[in-house]
Amino acid sequence: MLLATQVRSRTAKGIAAEIGRLITSGELDVATRLPAIRALADELEVSPTTVQHAYQALAQSGLVIAQGKRGTVVRGAAESTRPPRYAASDKELMPLWDLTSGTPDPALLPDVGAALMSLAAQDTAILTSGYMEQPVLPDLEWELRRRWPFEPGAITVVDGALDAIDRLFRLTLRVGDRVLVENPTFPPVLDMIERAGAEIIGLPLDEHGIVPGSLRDALEMRPSLLVLQPRAQNPSGVSMTHERAEDLAAVLTGSSVLIIEDDHAGGITSASQVSLGSYLPDRVIRILSFSKAFGPDLRLAAVGGAADTIVRLDNARALGPGWSSRLLQHVLLYLLTDERALAQLANARAVYAHRRRSMVEALRREGFQIVGEDGINIWVPVANENEARIRLAMRDAGIAVALGSSFLSAPLPSEFIRITCSAISEGFTELAGAIAAAALPPRARTSRPAHPR
Ligand SMILES: Cc1ncc(COP(=O)(O)O)c(C=O)c1O
Repeated sequence: MLLATQVRSRTAKGIAAEIGRLITSGELDVATRLPAIRALADELEVSPTTVQHAYQALAQSGLVIAQGKRGTVVRGAAESTRPPRYAASDKELMPLWDLTSGTPDPALLPDVGAALMSLAAQDTAILTSGYMEQPVLPDLEWELRRRWPFEPGAITVVDGALDAIDRLFRLTLRVGDRVLVENPTFPPVLDMIERAGAEIIGLPLDEHGIVPGSLRDALEMRPSLLVLQPRAQNPSGVSMTHERAEDLAAVLTGSSVLIIEDDHAGGITSASQVSLGSYLPDRVIRILSFSKAFGPDLRLAAVGGAADTIVRLDNARALGPGWSSRLLQHVLLYLLTDERALAQLANARAVYAHRRRSMVEALRREGFQIVGEDGINIWVPVANENEARIRLAMRDAGIAVALGSSFLSAPLPSEFIRITCSAISEGFTELAGAIAAAALPPRARTSRPAHPR
């Protein structure tokens, strides 16, 4: 079917509506590739931006999926709506050692029960009132501002770091935009960029963060966004140093790129707070998630920085949930200020640091070259990720690991697996030995120094 002949409207909204009707009526089959933006724009005699906006509206309504360079494809109603990189990480086996999760050790979370009990003493009428209050509890905002690594123009609270990124992308990204990310990075961020029909540009990391020269080169492609993780980068464990932040800020000064800093593991990281916001406060939005510190189910993250963007985020949310539960904000405020909770958090931080260090040392003794010093994830180079994953899963005990390719936007010189070490409290040497047997290329295995088991 020649799509252009079926479309009469010449506005983005109208084009989206007509193509949408063709999809829902079944006239356009599932998996049909829509014409390239420029081709359809030429046929309809409209600007490519109009078609771009139409495709974007269709993608947002879930009728099509933007697959980057592969184009825009009609999506089936019954087709899995699970984001592609999540689906790739679904596991078939129930291993004894599940090192795939990326989540904190439940045993190390502070006592949320005490925080909930503290609510009982408060007036529920006040706690559960009104639509018209500020999105953030004033006392919580004060605590957050106190902790922020730079003076934020505005601050709000949303339902987790991923919610923050989703909302920021929806506000700022258009089809065809270019987004700079660390390569490797957190898979859902890659899925979200593709969903928006934007192009991903992966920047290499070294042990101090994004390599400044690669950022300088990438700016020539006129990206609109840079998304980075300042501490305990997932999956690599790298934290940005002060010097690196200064260098990156210098590179970014002449550009108009908006910067999103995802401090996803704040609270449990050992690195100090470093932010590009210290240099470019009007262009940086920093997200602070509490999932690793207080448990993913608290579902809260703070977002602070460039005021215009944060006000837009709050305004856009007004036609939806409006704000993040203030009951939960009370719980967060309690956890951020209660001495016992803070002591539990400090203990968790120390235990995670010990576990990661122990696991990395054991892997290094096996001959693995590991970068990154922080957080709960370890990025392990392997000869072949699929082979390594299957061999580890098939061991007697069964060890499940995440495939490195899910984290990549461009190939790296080696393949990788990611292991989460948050809950490994013993058996580091045995685990590292098993990973080496399954994962190291024969050359590395034979050249590794002998050591007693
Ligand atoms: C880099 C990164 N960003 C965001 C998230 C999600 O955070 P939240 O639970 O606050 O949505 C994670 C979760 O592991 C993560 O690793």
